[in-house]
Amino acid sequence: MAVEIRTYVREDRRALEELAIETSCTNDSKVKRLEDIMHPEFYFDIEYAYHLDYEPESILIAEDNGQLVGYLTGCVDVRRYERTMAYKIVPEIAFKLFIGEYDMKTAKIVGKALKHPIQLCRAGPTASFFHINIAGGYRGQGIGKELVERYLEYLKKSGQDKCSVGIFSGNERALRFFSKNSFVETRRNRFLDWEIVNLERSLR
Ligand SMILES: CC(C)(COP(=O)(O)OP(=O)(O)OC[C@H]1O[C@@H](n2cnc3c(N)ncnc32)[C@H](O)[C@@H]1OP(=O)(O)O)[C@@H](O)C(=O)NCCC(=O)NCCS
Repeated sequence: MAVEIRTYVREDRRALEELAIETSCTNDSKVKRLEDIMHPEFYFDIEYAYHLDYEPESILIAEDNGQLVGYLTGCVDVRRYERTMAYKIVPEIAFKLFIGEYDMKTAKIVGKALKHPIQLCRAGPTASFFHINIAGGYRGQGIGKELVERYLEYLKKSGQDKCSVGIFSGNERALRFFSKNSFVETRRNRFLDWEIVNLERSLR
């Protein structure tokens, strides 16, 4: 594979953000464009602010000739994630809502989500977890598998015994990918209008 896997540096932030927003809707086969359902900034804050601002050492980047073509944003300590969401990120999102930084449809989603603050901070993960995205033209070449394997090695070295991932139930390709990579479904839960499948892989 010509694509290089390496750890994240601050200069990757913009390219990672662009890829996250561009590929976000492929996570849910019913949705065509992210901006049709919510403000991209809200999506990025809720899904990625923790990883980029509080745990960048657990991010892996796939790069092809200097171009970011995939990433895996990990979280080793899920309790730390929940605390950071509860005390930092969710209050910042509430503040942005209060000062009118999001559009109306996003404000409605945030308003609804803030009625379930515990669920918002704990949106699914049951153990060390991650998000993964590969750019459209680079899928099916083994990059996803390589990123996941590298991350699982990293988790084992930091003493974790399992790893979890949350997938929208309509995301057939990702569900197939994770089942091929030895992740098994542990539960399903709802977050607002979405059903999220939680999968786990043992690291023992
Ligand atoms: C799900 C996802 C991460 C998988 O990554 P990927 O790099 O495409 O995965 P891989 O290439 O390792 O494996 C995928 C498929 O390619 C095949 N493959 C692996 N290596 C290959 C190679 N060298 N050449 C051709 N095919 C290959 C695999 O057998 C697998 O087959 P499948 O389509 O029957 O499942 C990717 O599709 C993606 O980013 N999707 C959008 C975001 C998303 O859904 N993220 C998950 C939620 S966090």
